[in-house]
Amino acid sequence: MESILLFVLPFVSLAAFLGWRYITSQSRSSKQHDSNEKGVLDEIDPYQDIEPLPDFDWKTTPPIKNAPLKPVYHLTMALENIPLSSLIDMDNTYLTRLHTRREIMTTHPTATIACTPCVPAVNELYTWLIKTYLPKRFPTIYIPTPTGGDILNTASSEIIPSVPPPDPTQALKVLGSHIDTDFLLLLPSSQSAKDGSPIYHLEAFVTCFPSGFSTRAKLSCPLAEIHAPVPGYTAKLEKSMDRFFARIECGRCVKRSNWSLTTNDLLFSEGGNHLYENGSTDYDAPHPNDNDDAKQNLSTEEQILRQKASVHIPSCRLRSERQTLFRLPQTQALVFAFKTYQYRLEEVKEFGDGYAERLAEAMEGLGKGNVPEMEFYKRGVVWRERVVEFLRS
Ligand code: HEM
Repeated sequence: MESILLFVLPFVSLAAFLGWRYITSQSRSSKQHDSNEKGVLDEIDPYQDIEPLPDFDWKTTPPIKNAPLKPVYHLTMALENIPLSSLIDMDNTYLTRLHTRREIMTTHPTATIACTPCVPAVNELYTWLIKTYLPKRFPTIYIPTPTGGDILNTASSEIIPSVPPPDPTQALKVLGSHIDTDFLLLLPSSQSAKDGSPIYHLEAFVTCFPSGFSTRAKLSCPLAEIHAPVPGYTAKLEKSMDRFFARIECGRCVKRSNWSLTTNDLLFSEGGNHLYENGSTDYDAPHPNDNDDAKQNLSTEEQILRQKASVHIPSCRLRSERQTLFRLPQTQALVFAFKTYQYRLEEVKEFGDGYAERLAEAMEGLGKGNVPEMEFYKRGVVWRERVVEFLRS
């Protein structure tokens, strides 16, 4: 009997193993099949197949130099494909940033978080980020707890619930409190009159670091209206952006970066970073400084002269956003996410490798590209002379 068992057992084990492999491969390929019907690019599930950074230490990782410096500024989408794994970037500013984000969300609750009734998309983003993306990508920071599957944030020593809070604004707040990235969700809420293709509108956001615009004023707006203040957008970008948003496939992730020069160090800024035709620096609401100037009936030139006189180099920051865009597979919502970097001008000079000169050239090139009005819009007419002189000194 024993010898029969010894003979049969390996075959039974092998058969069981092959059976298990067959069943799991069938269930995997049926998942792939489902996903492909929704437009997933690859065989594997890109939302699950996140490449881990097993040795990542946020405390010893310096921030990347993110600004895309070009000698001539052209208004383009300038998108680059990246793996979904690279969605979030982290560095040694993480914990300080979490504190800043929480403070800003407390002092400006309605400016930083809002949501139309698009709960399923918020829940999908929350669940995927908290349960899948973060613990898989950064296993040294976000660790599943042994019971219940909640996540321990080892940097803040807090537990993040893996199930989204019932109130979507609370869910967005948790994301904003544990990830140094702003998230905006867009859904196809209207259609193009011309070809009937979907037009994406902003439906939910947690945005702690808006750079000179009011996110809440853009809630429910289509992409074109969101970009209304940007000179040249209608002529140079609108059509290709709408087409791109309508077609971006599940599993694909794209990245772009921008840069600007701010004359203050404020991370949360609903106005003040751009210049408009009447000399105002606020598109959505009157800015306190504008009111003073308006009261004194100052002309645009006079307002620019005033602003120029108050440029103070130590307060200036090179500011840059690392922006990403991808689609959620279930709700098909688009997620636009950005992390904000700030660099002091002294620090920029210390980067070496000709960085300060390249920045100075990029500043001089703002008005030389396909939309020369960008120099005015980005307030180059206010800060360029002083800042370029400093960078070259
Ligand atoms: C792939 C997607 C996107 C592209 C290619 C894009 C492109 C641009 C460009 C070229 C500008 C001018 C300044 C700069 O170079 O950044 C701009 C500004 C802006 N974008 Fe977008 N955008 C995208 C998505 C979005 C989304 C989804 C939102 C909000 C829901 C948004 C909000 C804004 C705002 C508020 C500005 C004005 C602020 C500024 O000029 O610094 N963008 N965008």
